[in-house]
Amino acid sequence: MSAAAPVVSVATGSQVADAGALTAEAYLADRLVAPDEDYALELRDAQRRAVEATLLVATVEGTDGASVVVGTVTLAPYGTSYAEVAEPGELELRMLAVAPEARRRGIAEDLVRAAMRHCVVVGARRLVLSTLDAMQTAQRVYARLGFVAQPHRDWGHVEIHLRVHTWTPPEPPGVLVEQATWPPARVHVTEAGWRVGVSAGVTRRANSAIPLGSGSRGVGAALDEVEAVYAAAGLPSIVRVGRADRDVEAELEARGYEVASETDVLVRDLAQAPAAERPHLHVVSAAAPDDAWLSTWLGAKKADADRALARQVLLGAPADYLAAAVDGHAAGVIRVAYSEDWAALSCLVVRPDARRHGLGRELTLRALEVARSRGARRAFLQVESHNVIAARLYAALGFQPADAYRYRQR
Ligand SMILES: CC(C)(COP(=O)(O)OP(=O)(O)OC[C@H]1O[C@@H](n2cnc3c(N)ncnc32)[C@H](O)[C@@H]1OP(=O)(O)O)[C@@H](O)C(=O)NCCC(=O)NCCS
Repeated sequence: MSAAAPVVSVATGSQVADAGALTAEAYLADRLVAPDEDYALELRDAQRRAVEATLLVATVEGTDGASVVVGTVTLAPYGTSYAEVAEPGELELRMLAVAPEARRRGIAEDLVRAAMRHCVVVGARRLVLSTLDAMQTAQRVYARLGFVAQPHRDWGHVEIHLRVHTWTPPEPPGVLVEQATWPPARVHVTEAGWRVGVSAGVTRRANSAIPLGSGSRGVGAALDEVEAVYAAAGLPSIVRVGRADRDVEAELEARGYEVASETDVLVRDLAQAPAAERPHLHVVSAAAPDDAWLSTWLGAKKADADRALARQVLLGAPADYLAAAVDGHAAGVIRVAYSEDWAALSCLVVRPDARRHGLGRELTLRALEVARSRGARRAFLQVESHNVIAARLYAALGFQPADAYRYRQR
């Protein structure tokens, strides 16, 4: 089995049966069920779960290059037969299982984080689960990720006491706070009130349109205006589609726009933010990015970006620019921008040769400290949903999913 971080996705094809076998195997290994019990059969029957509920699997690349299912979890909407305690609007997490040989590698956490993300994406108001005292490892995972015991909802049969835990997504910053901390060089406001960012292509965030209402002439007319603005600027049309923008999504789909990326908005409050851990790491903070900061952020991939424009986009909001120096050279950077009581963390990059030495973690911690010293009360950041490495880092520092959006591009 490879050591790369696993990928969590909705089970398809043969993954469904694999997930069922794995769930039964995991519960049997921990003696949570006996082989002859009906429940063992139910655990194995992932086909029915995949139809009635959402069946997630964690996969890793096997030695032969094929993907291997190493963990699974089921998410049952209220009212389905798999939901035992869910109330209206809640999503019930069930049958979390990691293959015995794949344990102690954070896969359960990846699965539960994916469940939290799914809860946010589908707009459920809360995740709920029942757990047995024998499931100590799982309970530590739930507590670490922000689940809270709800003893008044505990339930059980004759000898079994099931403890109910819930997780409620934090309030997201909202698209206007997001844009205020990453303002495009120019914003065109359409007749319908959409905000069309134009910044000569420097970052998708500053070169995309935000749908805000459909105006009197409808979504189609708003999109026509967006397309005209981008055509005039010589840029591709890109639209940020939020969870509630269903009519916009349908219209974009009809016009042939493809999903260019999916982004999660993660939030944590700053009241009990963890303190920095490595006081000896030399981190400098400035009110503007210098050349070394910019070069580290832009890295090799975006090295040919228009630096003046990049600087202009960055400087559009009040912010602090932190750089960690190793042997006198910038090895990692992060930006903290401010709007209302929010701090927006962005631009975290550690030079490839300096990775896996705790710099990313320490820079994020220092950013939280700076944010708090500036009077911010909550922090948010955006991370692409496939960036498992960054997602793990942020989850370990208490960030939780609060919102999700995707970019669609023609
Ligand atoms: C994300 C990034 C900043 C992490 O920097 P880093 O200095 O290597 O991270 P750290 O050494 O502080 O690692 C902290 C945690 O990140 C996670 N992590 C880092 N590298 C990982 C890897 N290769 N595989 C799995 N998890 C990893 C782990 O949870 C790690 O904790 P652990 O070491 O206790 O397992 C770096 O990989 C990077 O620059 N990536 C490209 C830019 C990017 O993705 N930025 C985030 C944009 S939102």
